[in-house]
Amino acid sequence: MKGIVLAGGTATRLFPLTIVTNKHLLPIYDRPMVYYPIETLAGMGVSAVMVVVGGKSVGDVVELLGDGSHFGLDLTYRYQHGALGIAHAIGLARDFVGDEPFCCVLGDNILRGPALAECAREFEAGPWGAGTLLYRVPDPERFGVAELDAAGQVVGFEEKPAHPKSDLIPIGVYFLRPDAFEVIEGLAPSGRGEFEITDVLNHYIPAGGLYTRAYDGHWTDAGTVPSLLRAAELAAEDHRGGRLRPPVERPAT
Ligand code: G1P
Repeated sequence: MKGIVLAGGTATRLFPLTIVTNKHLLPIYDRPMVYYPIETLAGMGVSAVMVVVGGKSVGDVVELLGDGSHFGLDLTYRYQHGALGIAHAIGLARDFVGDEPFCCVLGDNILRGPALAECAREFEAGPWGAGTLLYRVPDPERFGVAELDAAGQVVGFEEKPAHPKSDLIPIGVYFLRPDAFEVIEGLAPSGRGEFEITDVLNHYIPAGGLYTRAYDGHWTDAGTVPSLLRAAELAAEDHRGGRLRPPVERPAT
């Protein structure tokens, strides 16, 4: 399975912190934000990762991560011109992905808990076209939100609804296969002018083609000031509990 990390966007919700720098370079406890999704993919056993960069300080992101060998990864990069959304950014990885299944992790998503290797293997071996992990939050209107039927099955996702139909959200971990690129090509931009990942997920629901599983660790994004603080608290709790490994060392140049 291949990996994608999305590290573009304008991060206006973090202004003024991100006026002159890339959100994914901001510190979360003892390491830059982008280390977390990279470590998430490495923990899943993925070895080839494309980082889609955009917005501010793109060169610094590349300088920080380098060729990825210090993470045990083979890293490659693609530039996203403009903030056209998650689905658009994933679409840029088409040639990199080739004919393999892949996992995309958002660059501001912090997962603390069980490694996702089992989910990745389950998705890979199964019949689903796409997959994501669900997490309960107190402020679902900030995210994609799942609508469930009486049996608890997901029947659809709405992106940032004013009136959320549940408090379960798809976190920024997406399992996909190459046919998702056709789906992405057929998307229309949403009201906020972005190509939405929730529209991609919705495409797979009707025929039972969407894999979902509850994430039973701790999760947060880090794209707002409160969630940036929450992310640092999660990492600090892990550090105190001896569960946070030291950040990888940079290779000697
Ligand atoms: C994105 C997705 C949303 C998802 C969230 C998870 O939102 O669009 O569906 O729930 O990531 O972090 P963003 O916060 O990038 O606007």
